[in-house]
Amino acid sequence: PTPIILDCDPGHDDALALLLAYASPTLDLRAITTVAGNQTLPKVTENARRVATLAGITDVPIAAGADRPLVRDLVVAQDVHGKTGLDGADLPEPEVPLSSTTATTLMAETIASADRPVTLVPTGPLTNVAHLLREHPESAVGIAQIVWMGGSTTRGNVTPYAEFNAFVDPEAAAEVLDSGIPVTMIGLNVTHQALATDEIIARIRRLGTDLATTIADLLGFFAATYERIWGLPAPPVHDAVAVARVIDPGLVGCVRAPISIETKGDLTSGATVVDLYERTGRPANAYAGVAVDVERFWDLMIDALATYP
Ligand code: BDR
Ligand code: CA
Repeated sequence: PTPIILDCDPGHDDALALLLAYASPTLDLRAITTVAGNQTLPKVTENARRVATLAGITDVPIAAGADRPLVRDLVVAQDVHGKTGLDGADLPEPEVPLSSTTATTLMAETIASADRPVTLVPTGPLTNVAHLLREHPESAVGIAQIVWMGGSTTRGNVTPYAEFNAFVDPEAAAEVLDSGIPVTMIGLNVTHQALATDEIIARIRRLGTDLATTIADLLGFFAATYERIWGLPAPPVHDAVAVARVIDPGLVGCVRAPISIETKGDLTSGATVVDLYERTGRPANAYAGVAVDVERFWDLMIDALATYP
């Protein structure tokens, strides 16, 4: 199996990403790290531990990372994920321990001790990854690729041009995109194809386990959010699509392109500038997700949820 580190800010869709990653026989989830994003660092860290407790995941270390972006003040997504960051269901008290080390140390140690290059799957702002590359530059050779949920080839969701994870820490995103490490950007243009429709939520609920009921309840909350804020008929499960790309690359079609992050624009800060038509003359530095096989994605996700007791 492919060794991966999930760097997340749970978050409804982060929770699904975590459950998909741990359940997949083609992945070996070696570490879970948390970053301030959807909510404050203490809240998203507690959420990661609550989800792990719910799922009985006791053999993956969890470490907390950055509590704020590299240079900016933190902006959270309370309107999307609620006060706790994971509103809509009662999750168990966190029983799995929090590592005494920091996210960057855990990432660096995990990478250094791995038998082969590790894939990083960040599903929040790229703050932790930027810190890792600054503090442990030797880690770079041990990273096979970075498959990030963030950005968009089209429009944003926080501002007209910026997606949340890019918007929160554009400086970090710019550093990671410019790092020379292979990056795949799974942006809104593709994640908005993977919607948890009422039918999908009903399929999950029919699994009948406590975990499935909790996930269905969380997705119900998420659905109400997406309807209220964006007028969408169903919520996209963004972060899980990034994990799916690592499990089965053929499931998420990507194109190679130069991608830069806008860090200055008054109206466009955090925009992911994807040069699909090769107008900038810049060398391609990344892949951008463009299409997901929706049916196969949901089969994969629901089969993963079904593995939990
Ligand atoms: C991204 O922002 C967060 O709210 C989600 O968890 C996802 O990572 C979507 O823009
Ligand atoms: Ca997220």
